[in-house]
Amino acid sequence: MPLMEPYRIKVVEPIPVTTRAVREKALDRAGHNLFNLSADEVTIDLLTDSGTGALSAAQQAAAAVGDESYAGARSFHRFREVVDELTSYPHIFPVHQGRAAERILFSALLEPGQITISNTHFDTTRANSELAGCEARDLPCLEMKDLDSDEPFKGNIDLVALEAALTGPDADRIGIVIMTITNNGGGGQPVSMANLEAASRLCRRHAVPFFLDAGRFAENAWLVTQREPGHENSSPREVAKAAFRLADGCLASLKKDGIANIGGLLALRDDDLAKRCELILTATEGFRTYGGLAGRDLEMLAQGLVEVTDPHYLRARADATAHLAELVNTAGVGTVRPPGVHGVYLNAGRLLPHIPPERFPGHALACALYLEGGIRSVELGSLFLGEVDEDGRLRTPAPYELLRLALPRRVYTQSHLEYVAEVVAAVAKRAESVPGYRLVTVPPILRHFNATLEPVTR
Ligand code: F0G
Repeated sequence: MPLMEPYRIKVVEPIPVTTRAVREKALDRAGHNLFNLSADEVTIDLLTDSGTGALSAAQQAAAAVGDESYAGARSFHRFREVVDELTSYPHIFPVHQGRAAERILFSALLEPGQITISNTHFDTTRANSELAGCEARDLPCLEMKDLDSDEPFKGNIDLVALEAALTGPDADRIGIVIMTITNNGGGGQPVSMANLEAASRLCRRHAVPFFLDAGRFAENAWLVTQREPGHENSSPREVAKAAFRLADGCLASLKKDGIANIGGLLALRDDDLAKRCELILTATEGFRTYGGLAGRDLEMLAQGLVEVTDPHYLRARADATAHLAELVNTAGVGTVRPPGVHGVYLNAGRLLPHIPPERFPGHALACALYLEGGIRSVELGSLFLGEVDEDGRLRTPAPYELLRLALPRRVYTQSHLEYVAEVVAAVAKRAESVPGYRLVTVPPILRHFNATLEPVTR
């Protein structure tokens, strides 16, 4: 199959083309924080793959027949049928997005003082664990430490550490184990079926609920079919179905592999837990057959959840990501290897060795890519993950200084990605002239969304 998108374009949206002078002014006004830009000031928006995908004609047609009845809508039944076939969970609750599922499940399941364990908690998952009075512990596999190695499943959980936790002094306090597939906080790396099976067995043996954070379940399944011996002849849908069957339930942001603009899912097996979740759902999101979504959203999600496991779609998306990674590698910019599917994670720390962690190299690269070519991306380094005091001084840096180029689904073509690679290459050529940044205003929480910064040349 050639490197090409397996769809043609029926509706188009112009993208803003700006001058460097306009971008300089915009970035200044935004306090040098790309979250503060207006989308009209962005040429290629790689901030996130969440809710930013393009709808198919079939999804738009499905939306037109959305049933907006308050209770028992036809659209809910269609959504339920698709999710049931995929996951096998008897209790299926739509929610408005992934973090709502986290909040509902954790409030229904956990007690303050308990521990949540994950291969890597996504930041909202960690925040919801902490809001429930719990401690969130990440146990990523050791292979993840080496950004450059081509180990196929660097998203795995460390099984030795998991078993030690489940049998150690804090074992009684472990309230849930959550496997994030793919591992977004861990470079978008996949989790193998063998790792899921082993983690599931350990949790069952120790009677700890085992859940998937399954926002990118199809992309994980695709990488399993490509990389894990024994699964090469399975379809991505078969692998995804088998993964869901290893768990007691799942949380999912359907803004990713639901290929819709909004939506989430909480689905599980346990009847009592489901009753408690349903009460919280009804009180805070909506009745159990819509959970804060419109009937048209449920229709588009049901259709998206079928389209997303199409092997032609997944192959083209994974190939596009790998192509972008290869182009930026050729330009001398390191990336977390091997490439995953939803994004390319640039090693900003290595590209900008003259910028120390306290001057936020990932953020510096994000600003440079914006000024050079109007590209918006997101820092995953010390600005986002480090510990900063109230004066904006970095106390503990993040383990790596990365920048994520997240790829919206079905939105950008190969030539857009080649443009992105050219912009990255242009910045890499004059890397030593990219300035670091200093925090000016430091909000106490969710710093990366609201902080303002300024460049420092010294
Ligand atoms: N879990 C994972 C693994 C995620 O990547 C996200 C969102 C969530 C949970 C929360 O879901 O946004 O629907 O409430 N990730 C987005 C991102 C925001 O850009 O990676 P949500």
